[in-house]
Amino acid sequence: MPACPWLAPLSSLLLPWYDRQVRALPWRDTPTPYGVWVSEIMLQQTRIEAVLSYYDRFMKAFPTIRDLADAPEDVLMKQWEGLGYYSRARNLQKTARMVRDTGLPADYEALLRLPGIGEYTAGAIASIAFGIPVPAVDGNVLRVLARLMDCDADVMKPPVRRMMTQVIAELVPPQRPGDFNQAVMELGETICLPNTDPDCKACPLAGICRGAAAGRARELPVRSAAKEKRKETRTVLVLLAADRRGTRRVLLHRRPSKGLLAGLWELPNVEGELTARQAMDWAREKGCPSVKVTVLTDAKHLFSHVEWRMRGYCVESASPPEEKEPNPDNVWASAEELREKYALPGAFRAYSRMLPQWLEEGIPLSLFTESV
Ligand code: ADE
Repeated sequence: MPACPWLAPLSSLLLPWYDRQVRALPWRDTPTPYGVWVSEIMLQQTRIEAVLSYYDRFMKAFPTIRDLADAPEDVLMKQWEGLGYYSRARNLQKTARMVRDTGLPADYEALLRLPGIGEYTAGAIASIAFGIPVPAVDGNVLRVLARLMDCDADVMKPPVRRMMTQVIAELVPPQRPGDFNQAVMELGETICLPNTDPDCKACPLAGICRGAAAGRARELPVRSAAKEKRKETRTVLVLLAADRRGTRRVLLHRRPSKGLLAGLWELPNVEGELTARQAMDWAREKGCPSVKVTVLTDAKHLFSHVEWRMRGYCVESASPPEEKEPNPDNVWASAEELREKYALPGAFRAYSRMLPQWLEEGIPLSLFTESV
């Protein structure tokens, strides 16, 4: 006896709708295991529209699993710049190195053992690329199911998620598992939308939806209150100096290989809120007596568990930097290197966005300037 017998017609209602509705996406045209894998990893934290340009660029840079396996780390990170959650890119490469000669396995359990591939991604690759009848349960699928079942348990709780996975696993049609999984996601992305009135009039599942029948679809799924993020005040320092040839450069620092933004280049930053004078002292310690300190805008960035509240200073130095003990985790990057080579995480976007221009043209007078 199926867990939810009223959902038995799900695939026969959904697939004809999907066939009419399906959006042409580059990884859908000819679904290779590599393309499906890359697209699904990108889509984990990022909207489809945003992923489109990244996906094409990435596949041009690394057309095969071997190209990805052999890519230098900085080149890979530069391709990933802007997508965030850089551990996804690192895990992609780890896995590429493991399967460079064999390709991805056509086996759900074996996929699950690879770095960066969890239940959702294993299900998506297995079903879309290999036609294996397993579910791929993401947030969209959980929302659609919570509404179909009129379920008021928190779908983010592991036991509820497990139960939902069992329900949908029984409904995956063996002939078209990949299309079915994508159709449920597509419904969640275009009709059964979160935090707003779903478009039930356009929904092919309206006739079997218990949430809609109860007039509660919009309120589902329920969410337990989110845990408060820890707030951290930081000062970001944009330190500019010209080298001996007169090329202006900015100091970048490589973060430690463990923890937040592990191993990525960053604008130097310190905990707490420095004054302009303290920012100058900091620059002097780096071998850069400053000529000008510019106060930059405040900015905020949300990580998954912590929120950074940032104050920024741009410290300009007239003479080339003279570090007493050069630090291998520091580099002085030119505008061109910033554009071509070094990826800076989105957390610094408020300060890094205009940096190549500042390096080439100087700090605009429109920014408030304190000369020291
Ligand atoms: N969201 C994540 N992966 C998707 C896919 N393959 N189709 C539609 N939406 C998705």
